Amino acid sequence: METVYKIIDRYPEGGHSVIQVLQDIQNEFNYLPRERLVEVSQVLRIPLSRLYSIATFYSAFSLNPRGKHVVTVCMGTACHVRGAAAILSEFERKLGVKPGQTTNDKKYTLETVNCLGCCAIGPIVVFDKRYIGEFKLDQVDKLLKEK
Ligand code: FES
Repeated sequence: METVYKIIDRYPEGGHSVIQVLQDIQNEFNYLPRERLVEVSQVLRIPLSRLYSIATFYSAFSLNPRGKHVVTVCMGTACHVRGAAAILSEFERKLGVKPGQTTNDKKYTLETVNCLGCCAIGPIVVFDKRYIGEFKLDQVDKLLKEK
């Protein structure tokens, strides 16, 4: 419970929201481990089922362990018409995983999202929270060699 208490203590008395607490846990572990969710449920007296619905509703949360680096390809309509499917296929081919999966060496997790709200600069790839707009197919290799 130490981790959860530490996180809650970061916020002024009663000033935390469940989402903030879950975000902090996600930042610390790169996903939401079940044990931590059970602790949050006990400490904040929120049913575990509610925490799972929040965690599954927001695409920023992951219930599965992720790799060191997270590659997210936007597959929303605007990005799709600008070539997102080919970009996703190239990442799948290079990494040998499908969306939602992590490479065997735990280095990369590939994910997709349906619109990041910045369609004008699509297609968009998010690499470790860095938004890269007007993404070109030939950037896949370069990006993966960066890390
Ligand atoms: S469809 Fe990709 S940002 Fe909107």
